[in-house]
Amino acid sequence: MKKDQLIIFDTTLRDGEQSPGASMTKDEKIRVARQLERMRVDVIEAGFAAASPGDFDAINSIAQVIRESTVCSLARANENDIRRAGEAIAPAPRKRVHTFIATSPIHMEKKLRMTPDQVVEQAVKAIGWAREYTDDVEFSAEDAGRSDIDFLCRVFDAVIKAGATTLNVPDTVGYNVPGQYAETIRQLIERVPNSDKVIWSVHCHNDLGLAVANSLAAVMAGARQVECTVNGLGERAGNASLEEVVMAVRTRADIFPVETRIDTTQIVPASKLISQITGYPVQPNKAIVGANAFAHESGIHQDGVLKHRETYEIMRAEDVGWSQNKLVLGKHSGRNAFKSRLAELGVVLDSEEALNSAFAKFKELADKKHEIFDEDLQALLSDEAVTPETEHYKLTYSQVTSETGETPVARLTLSVGGEEKKAESTGSGPVDATFKAIESVLNSGSELLLYSVNNITSGTDAQGDVTVRLSKGGRVVNGSGADTDIVIASVKAYLNALNRLHNEPAKLNPQEGV
Ligand code: KIV
Ligand code: ZN
Repeated sequence: MKKDQLIIFDTTLRDGEQSPGASMTKDEKIRVARQLERMRVDVIEAGFAAASPGDFDAINSIAQVIRESTVCSLARANENDIRRAGEAIAPAPRKRVHTFIATSPIHMEKKLRMTPDQVVEQAVKAIGWAREYTDDVEFSAEDAGRSDIDFLCRVFDAVIKAGATTLNVPDTVGYNVPGQYAETIRQLIERVPNSDKVIWSVHCHNDLGLAVANSLAAVMAGARQVECTVNGLGERAGNASLEEVVMAVRTRADIFPVETRIDTTQIVPASKLISQITGYPVQPNKAIVGANAFAHESGIHQDGVLKHRETYEIMRAEDVGWSQNKLVLGKHSGRNAFKSRLAELGVVLDSEEALNSAFAKFKELADKKHEIFDEDLQALLSDEAVTPETEHYKLTYSQVTSETGETPVARLTLSVGGEEKKAESTGSGPVDATFKAIESVLNSGSELLLYSVNNITSGTDAQGDVTVRLSKGGRVVNGSGADTDIVIASVKAYLNALNRLHNEPAKLNPQEGV
C-alpha cells in the first residue's frame, strides 16, 4: 500500500536558535541550511525575519541559495512581520510564510490582551497579508496544547477559508501527553470543515520529555507534518528531535502509515555541524546521534551483535551516517583535494583569498594532527568565518605555565580593536588563569554561565572543542573555539563569546511580543 508522505519541517534555525546562546551568524546559518537541504528536509524554517535586520538578511541569503527545500520565515500575525517575512523569502523557488497567534485563554488574556473574537479576526487578516507573497501559508495556534478545542475549531475553520494551507497545532509549553494530544488532532481533523484540503502539522516541546512521543502519536491520528529540530535543540527542554522522529517512522515502517524523504545518512553530519556551531554538545546516550548510541559496551551484547547483528541492533549505524565520519585529508593533501572536499560538504568560499587563508589554516592543523576529518574541517571553517570586522578581541600571544605544586600563571597579549594589551594572572588551573588574565584587562562585566570541553574526533591529538557561555545585561551568548591545545581553544572560545556580545545586536523573541 502506498504510504502518505510525512513532511519534515525543520526549525533548528528558528526555534532551535531561540535556545540560550545558540544564535548563529549568517554564514553559519547558510552552512546549516545547506546541510538540511542535503538531508532532504522538506521545509527549512530559516528564522524570524522581523527579529532584526541581520535575521532578515540571513533568511534572504538562505532563500537565494536553497533550491530544493521550501524556505520559510516565521511572522507574528501583524502586517509588518508578515511583509518582512514575505520579502525575506522572495528569492526562494519554494517559499512559505508561517504566521501565528496564541489561542489559549491564558495567552489571549495575559499576553495578547485580546478577546477570542479579536484573535480570530487578526488571524484571518494575517493569512490575507501572507497570501500576497505566496500560496504556501502556514498558520499556528500558539499554545494550542492548552486551548479550548471548540475555539481551535473556530480559528482553524476561519483560517482555512482565508487561504491557509498548513495548520499547525503547537504544544508550546510541552504540557500534553500522547493519548490526549493525538485525540486533539483526531477531533480537529474530524470537526473542522475542509480539513482534508490542508496539511495538519504538529510542533511539540519537550518539557515533559514527550515531544517525540506526542509528535508520533499525532502522526497516527492523521498529522502529516512534524516540526522538529536536529539534536532536539530548542528553548527550555527543546523541540521534538528530527532524528528520533525520522528514524522511528523508518524503523517501525510496520506501524506508521507514512514515510519521509530524508536521506538518513546525513543525520549524524547534521548533528555534529549543529552541535559545533551552537556550542550545544550532544549527550553520549542521546538516541541516534549520541556517541554511545551504537556502542555495545557489555560483553553479552557484543557477543550477540557479533553473532547476529539484529540480536541487539534495530538500526544500522551507517544508515544514520556514523560511517560518514571518514578520514578525508592529511598533511600531504593539496589545495585541490581540500577545495573539492569543502565542495562535497557544500561549502563554497567566496574568494580565492578566503580559500588560500582556509588552506593555510588546514596545513597548520595537518602539521599538528595528521588525520583530518570532516568535523575538523567544519571547526576550521567556523574559525575562518571570523573576519577582522567581527574580531574586536583577538589573541596574539599566550604563555601559560602549569607545574606540579606551583600556581598556574597565564601571560597573554590581546588585540582589542587593533590596540595591543598585555594581561597576566594566576588561577586555580591554566584555563582559570587565562580567563582571569583576559578579564583583568577587559573587565567585560559578563558572567560565565558554562564552560565545556569536548573532543572533536578521537585520539589524544584530537582538537578540543570548547564552549563558553556568557551573559551580560540579559543577553546570553555561546562562544566556541577549537584547537589541539585546549588552553588555546578555551581562550578562543572566551574571546569568541566576548566578540559575539560586542557585535550582535539584541533581537526580538517572536513569542515575547505581539
Ligand atoms: O512553540 C510554539 O508555539 C512556536 C510557534 C511560534 C509555532 O514555536
Ligand atoms: Zn516552538
